[in-house]
Amino acid sequence: MKEVSNKFLGNGKIKNKIKIGGEKLEIVNLGDFDKNKEQTRGSVPTNSCVFSTGISEFDRVLGKGIVQGSAVLFSGEPGIGKSTLLTQLIGKIGGLYVAGEESAEQIGLRVKRLGLNANNFDVLGTNSIDELEEFLDRTQKLYKIAVVDSIQVMASYANGSGSLISGGAGSVSQIKESTFRLIQMAKKKGMAIFIVGHVTKDGDIAGPKLLEHMVDTVLYFEGEKNGDLRILRTSKNRFGPTDEVGVFKMEEKGLREIKSEEINLIESKESKIGSAVTVVMEGTRPMMLEIQALVVESFAPMPKRIFSGIDYNRGQLMVAIAQKSLGIPLYKYDVFLSVTGGVKIDETAADLAVLAAMWSSYRNLPLGSNPSKSLLNKERNLPVYVGEVSLLGEVRKVRNLEKRKKEAKSLGRKLVEIKNVKELKT
Ligand code: TYD
Ligand code: MG
Repeated sequence: MKEVSNKFLGNGKIKNKIKIGGEKLEIVNLGDFDKNKEQTRGSVPTNSCVFSTGISEFDRVLGKGIVQGSAVLFSGEPGIGKSTLLTQLIGKIGGLYVAGEESAEQIGLRVKRLGLNANNFDVLGTNSIDELEEFLDRTQKLYKIAVVDSIQVMASYANGSGSLISGGAGSVSQIKESTFRLIQMAKKKGMAIFIVGHVTKDGDIAGPKLLEHMVDTVLYFEGEKNGDLRILRTSKNRFGPTDEVGVFKMEEKGLREIKSEEINLIESKESKIGSAVTVVMEGTRPMMLEIQALVVESFAPMPKRIFSGIDYNRGQLMVAIAQKSLGIPLYKYDVFLSVTGGVKIDETAADLAVLAAMWSSYRNLPLGSNPSKSLLNKERNLPVYVGEVSLLGEVRKVRNLEKRKKEAKSLGRKLVEIKNVKELKT
């Protein structure tokens, strides 16, 4: 242990920059440490220190690729596919896998299952930050990237000043200290570190949220576990944009990239009862998907509202608007709403589609089934519903309308243009 802390102290560069000692370490260090970075924030790193992940959807999310020596927090719910994607990453470019949760054998099995080149993997099975530090100091090998899986199971016994860290792995102090030390290793070695962090559905577990300000980039991997679609987002990126997303599908042999042209999730070529098609923006790309509604007479004292992929409060609001503006007596109906592909919708542009789907289910008729009077244009294109709906039932325009129109058109559909949801009834 002594050796480790000596080495740490012995690094003059770090020592000068950081007030080492006691509890101040966590607070003071971060600011000081980040100052250097601060100056480069927002500026695009030169190509020479950026390298590709070998996975284009991953590159797209990061901006250009991985920045040398950067620290990336890779968070998501347990079981969503974090280990899988990062295993695939090392499979592409080679690197060190710090396995805190699984054994080397288990990693080996995954590598085999994914059909990756085992030679690209150096697996270090440890839960100790001190051990990792020592290993990196001793090894002759230069790693471009290291994956630490996961931050919740890593711990260190002593910090730079030699004092003991309180708490076991997963505690707030351990998570912070471990991350801090990992960031230092990344800078010192010029090696990008991907730190895996589990979050719960509300994202509030001690861990990832705490670390967001420490790292250079924060990635979220999300999707419905029952569905196979996975979306990689960034909520912070010192080296690139934060509005791009990467889309993947979880398959037998790992995560497959979904290209723009196959991002359309609509299978059916005709309108179905209770279904409305919409176009949402995933980052800068339009994605067509289907909202399904089931509106059935309720026999419960309180009618049920069960939504999947749709924000509960937003959904409740749509139910209220449907009652007021469309005149559906929803107080005595159960309402179930879902989105195809397990996508979570976080834009209001899908409001109109939610209302249209409810209307269709309530009336037991597919949308646009009456071409003579319907909202369809003369060419009988299938309808697409895009628009934010106000409390009064007014339909508002949304951002990127042209892109969405184009997407709909390219798939033989047309955006329905109405000013008020009441027009759904005509
Ligand atoms: P995993 O990467 O272990 O999740 P995390 O690290 O985020 O906890 O992935 C877990 C799920 O992914 C698991 O239920 C099995 C599934 N999976 C596949 O469907 N295909 C695969 O090739 C792999 C490796 C996993
Ligand atoms: Mg895992």
